[in-house]
Amino acid sequence: MLTLGIETSCDETGIGLIDDDCILANVVSSQLAHTKYGGVVPELAARNHIRTIIPVMKNAFDVARHRLDDVELISVTRGPGLMGALLVGLSIAKSLAIALKKPMIGVNHLEGHVYALSLAPQKPQYPYLILLVSGGHTELVLVKEEFKYQTLGRTVDDACGEAFDKVAKILGLPYPGGPYIEKEARTGNAENVRLPVPKPGGFNFSYAGLKTAVLYYTKDHQDYNLSDVAASFQESALEHLIQVTERALDHVRVEHLGVVGGVSVNKRLRERFTELSMRKSIHLYLPDIQHCTDNGVMIARAGARRFRKYGPSSLTVDAVAREALDALT
Ligand code: KG4
Ligand code: ZN
Repeated sequence: MLTLGIETSCDETGIGLIDDDCILANVVSSQLAHTKYGGVVPELAARNHIRTIIPVMKNAFDVARHRLDDVELISVTRGPGLMGALLVGLSIAKSLAIALKKPMIGVNHLEGHVYALSLAPQKPQYPYLILLVSGGHTELVLVKEEFKYQTLGRTVDDACGEAFDKVAKILGLPYPGGPYIEKEARTGNAENVRLPVPKPGGFNFSYAGLKTAVLYYTKDHQDYNLSDVAASFQESALEHLIQVTERALDHVRVEHLGVVGGVSVNKRLRERFTELSMRKSIHLYLPDIQHCTDNGVMIARAGARRFRKYGPSSLTVDAVAREALDALT
């Protein structure tokens, strides 16, 4: 089933085309307009989607060597995300559904990240644990069976990716900060800068204290070494993810763990979770690098799976700023 995936929940305009298991095109345009603000400006995001979505879509169809008429299902992110940004994708999806006389399905963005794993050759078996680490979310979710989710814990303040972005801003690095922190950290020595590992308890996460600790460190040490601070922050941030995930693994006793979302691009994260999986004798699943950050292919995949079981969405489907995975059926 040729499925068109449309992703516009934040600052990435993503169009994906898949035919069942086969990825035909994955075109993502990352908005540079936010760089000078050090974070995403919602209205700018919506305006950029409206400007770029048609050229990005044309590009995807060229890459896939398909025509609009070939599309059998239109899958679009309905939330969670920035309202104005979501409405651009949703409106385009509805217009296409009417013009092409094809079904449309609205997809939860977090479920899209989970389905990034099902695009890889090795897929996790149910039940499995998901650590979702992105710019907007940091949460641990038990996937009991297909479409049945139980959130075990989530961040009580900043998301992990958001903390990378805010710390990058403190250190004078560009937005989005994650890749820049990772690059700096490679040449730094984490041992030279003492930063705390957050301990919020339960299966929850917290990044605001660590971010503030970096801020105070840089104020107290005017001649700080950028790479050392980046390395120390990255180690603390990842150690926190490892500690909470390990606690959850001991609690739910599943043998399959997936780590998804933009921060799962991070090579050090991949190393740390590979070590964890070996220590706990569990199977670890990570998406291909190009499917970690926001993209249309993961939305196409989640929508196609959901459509097979539940059929299309109504054309009155609305965008949602918030929607937990547990709320889905
Ligand atoms: O999944 P995503 O594209 O968007 C959301 O759904 O939020 O994740 C974006 C986040 C940003 O905060 C970005 O800094 C972070 O992923 N990120 C990274 C790396 N690449 C992207 N964080 C750490 N290391 C990276 N290499
Ligand atoms: Zn995302």
